[in-house]
Amino acid sequence: MGKQGFYVSKALAVVFIVLGLGALATIIALSVPPVTSNRPVTTNPPVTSNRPVTTNPPVTSNRPVTTAAPSNEPWDQYRLPKSLEPTHYSVTLHPRLKAQEGTGLYIFTGESSVDFHCKEETDLILIHSNKLNYTSKAGGEWAELTVVSGADTAPTITESRLQTETQYLVLTLDRKLTKNAEYRLTTTFTGELADDLGGFYRSEYVENGQKKVIATTQMQPTDARKAFPCFDEPALKATFDITLIHDAGTVALSNASSPETIEGNSVMRTVFERTPKMSTYLLAFIVSEFGNITDTVDDVTIKIYARKPAIDAGQGDYALKITGPILKFFENYYNSSYPLPKSDQIALPDFNAGAMENWGLITYRETALLYDPEFSSNSNKERIATIIAHELAHMWFGNLVTLRWWNDLWLNEGFASYVEYLGADNAEPDWGLKDLIVLNDIHRVFAVDALASSHPLSSPEDAIQKPAQISELFDAISYSKGASVLRMLSDFLTEPVFLKGLQTYLQQFAFGNTVYTDLWNHLEQAVQDLEFNLPFNVTDIMNTWVLQMGFPVVTVDTTTGIVTQKHFLLNPDSEITTESPFEYKWIVPIKWQKNGAEQPMEWLREESETKPEMKLGGSDWVLLNLNMSGYYRVNYDDGNWDRLLNTLSNNHEAIPVINRAQLVDDAFNLARAKIIPTVRALSTTKYLTGEMAYMPWKSAINNLEFFFLMFDRSEVFGPMQKYLQRQVQNLFTHYNNATAGYTADAVGHQNQYTQVNAFSLACRTGLTECQNLASTLFKDWMATGVNKIRPNLRTTVYCNAIAAGGVDVWDFAWGQFQKATIATEAEKIRYALTCTKESWLLNRYLEYTLNPTLIRKQDATSTIIYIAENVVGQNLAWDFIRARWPYIFSQYGGGSFSFSNLINGVTERFSTEYELHQLEQFKADHAEVGFGSGTLALEQSIERTKGNIEWLKENKQTVLEWFQKEVSASPSS
Ligand code: BES
Ligand code: ZN
Repeated sequence: MGKQGFYVSKALAVVFIVLGLGALATIIALSVPPVTSNRPVTTNPPVTSNRPVTTNPPVTSNRPVTTAAPSNEPWDQYRLPKSLEPTHYSVTLHPRLKAQEGTGLYIFTGESSVDFHCKEETDLILIHSNKLNYTSKAGGEWAELTVVSGADTAPTITESRLQTETQYLVLTLDRKLTKNAEYRLTTTFTGELADDLGGFYRSEYVENGQKKVIATTQMQPTDARKAFPCFDEPALKATFDITLIHDAGTVALSNASSPETIEGNSVMRTVFERTPKMSTYLLAFIVSEFGNITDTVDDVTIKIYARKPAIDAGQGDYALKITGPILKFFENYYNSSYPLPKSDQIALPDFNAGAMENWGLITYRETALLYDPEFSSNSNKERIATIIAHELAHMWFGNLVTLRWWNDLWLNEGFASYVEYLGADNAEPDWGLKDLIVLNDIHRVFAVDALASSHPLSSPEDAIQKPAQISELFDAISYSKGASVLRMLSDFLTEPVFLKGLQTYLQQFAFGNTVYTDLWNHLEQAVQDLEFNLPFNVTDIMNTWVLQMGFPVVTVDTTTGIVTQKHFLLNPDSEITTESPFEYKWIVPIKWQKNGAEQPMEWLREESETKPEMKLGGSDWVLLNLNMSGYYRVNYDDGNWDRLLNTLSNNHEAIPVINRAQLVDDAFNLARAKIIPTVRALSTTKYLTGEMAYMPWKSAINNLEFFFLMFDRSEVFGPMQKYLQRQVQNLFTHYNNATAGYTADAVGHQNQYTQVNAFSLACRTGLTECQNLASTLFKDWMATGVNKIRPNLRTTVYCNAIAAGGVDVWDFAWGQFQKATIATEAEKIRYALTCTKESWLLNRYLEYTLNPTLIRKQDATSTIIYIAENVVGQNLAWDFIRARWPYIFSQYGGGSFSFSNLINGVTERFSTEYELHQLEQFKADHAEVGFGSGTLALEQSIERTKGNIEWLKENKQTVLEWFQKEVSASPSS
């Protein structure tokens, strides 16, 4: 359970963004001025983050405290009893990389023994086991029990059975195990090596016309039990001796190194060294015919594994180059040497998440590890650097020291999601990566955390029991809010204090388990040891951010100096049913500037406080939440807003770049929440004609998506498009000149993003020069067979060209997709194929998505979402999903993250009564099949559609007048 795609990989995340833009474009295309054809645009993905994109947060605080179990019997509980604790496992696995004759199934066989300590007398052994079949031992039972120490003889097993709902092998004994004795339980079993992306599974690819099969694993969170029987909870750490049996010509890998591979008659046996004490979810076993490249940094052997042709083409070189430095960076950051002798990283053709931090053997999607300058964009490259940093960060935080239970997952993922920017910045110091957390995480999660249906970071331990509940935790709140509040914490403590506390925490709990408050205690100790002046306790401050959902909007009235805080809700009328222990008040750190000069930091604790220094006179202005170091929005009195907007227009560099992006984002969202007028938000886009920086532009584009979605079918659309085309014209021309008509890359990482954004937005808003350029570049590729399009621009160019072209263009692109030898190129084409305007092509493509020989399972839902984002495709995808709901539900339903995204994605632009009616009908029609992890998404979609209908009514006229006035005031040149 819980395996299929509950996590949305970056690919999907990118999609979202893309989508947003794409939607926009598409809309444009369809709507009014048929001018534009393209949907376009998109691209650029710096987009976004790697995070699971969810708009659809599980409501933690409302999670039922497991009503699920039908009885009080121990085997009906999802948590293991506390009576037995494993200390060591010996596991031998033999995956068969050829299908069995007859059944056509791929299988693995295994033998496992686990040594465990008996802490409390019991005559029952419960051990996790899912989809494994056992071979009977001598006594006819499925396991053999022996004494290791502390008892004379072992009890006899009297019954063996499987409890499938709770995923246990249940063994009953004729008498009790002796307290404090050690026993060994031995089993022999078989399992299916299915293509289901969870547990021990298979991945396939074609090399030189030959099909190759890989056996690989994805254990997190609860699928180690699908590979061998184990006590599958993160606190039950043990050591592991792993042996893999495999055919000659294949390589076997696991967490530890293998000093020897023994060649047998027909098969080889690779015996790995003993692992350190570790959690089951971090195990990995892989058998493949991959090649590798290697390097040694100090005493650590670093290897990158991938398909041989990819290694030969140098696609692993970039990953190898940056891994050593990032590893060194973290050794220094944590003040702790890398805990293992080797670090392997491997790119797999089929992989559900983006990457997985198995200790010593990190697994990746190909797009997340393999880089080729000829095909990969700067966004692909950034993604590789940050994802490697993220997974390496886990080698200590998460692997060496592990949270006791999944309810604290947010600290594990939030931490890695914060420090990934630091690690990647160290490897690529010229990219300005550390700032990008604001767009990729803070802005992204603000959208979700401003809903009444959000949930606190922290969940009570007993609220999280079932695998599906655990899977639900891998959401934007855990990743992006977790990262945001930890960044805030590190910022107000200052890095030396933060690091001291972090380092002593890792030291104390190495090879052990913790709860999140252990980290707060170590940070508190560091505050004291370093005599750091902090007006509140770390715990008191952090409790307000961790134990209640949402975040505040801080309002400063510069005429009085009164500063207030209030829970920020996107829909101010929504009803909050979740009670907060702090009544929705936070302890808020405020870094701020007056007239561009930084002032001493302030704290806001009460709902309202007077800060005399913030009372202003004359032309003075203040800017709060400097560099967005705090997790909150800011509102000002009208006078200060006017002065800030003036500064943007006259001297925008007086405001730090992050805050320029922030003013735009705050204004648009405050307007959505009816706190400031919508025209105030729109007016933040006026200064953009003079803005060259990436972040403010991206922030504006992200916020304008909503306007496109809402107005594309109305008379607002024409003036809006004209206005935006005029706003982007400068930027488009600038890069046209600077990059020889978009045939070269801009200089600088973020400028490259801006170059792509300029191109995308220009094409999207109907600039013919841009659209012609896209078609010309693509046709040249078709005619010559040589692709001269810069990798950064490929997604946008392909999409625009396919949108403008017919079946010949589509079929050409499909052929290129199937031929692509690097996954990032395939990914770009896979997206662009959804841009066509031909319904029959889109319908044919929809059919492909459920055929794993054409579209890999890992990519199915994201492709359907892309299609839905195309205005022409939206209804087709909606019909497709509605017609096959039971099938899609069974294939993609189980706790899947991408599944809830599917519902959200397909209904994103619903804003009419008719669409609302359809949604409600859909809900009624499929009530009996259900919506699984998409249940909340469906409710949210209905709520969102209602909100959209409402918003449109209230804002249409003023927005129309504003665009008309702007366009007529200064006609575009
Ligand atoms: N531990 C996760 C991978 C994972 C996610 C496993 C969901 C099981 C369920 C890993 O550390 C991770 O977070 N990967 C991210 C990349 C990261 C840069 C945000 C991913 O997979 O995209
Ligand atoms: Zn992670």
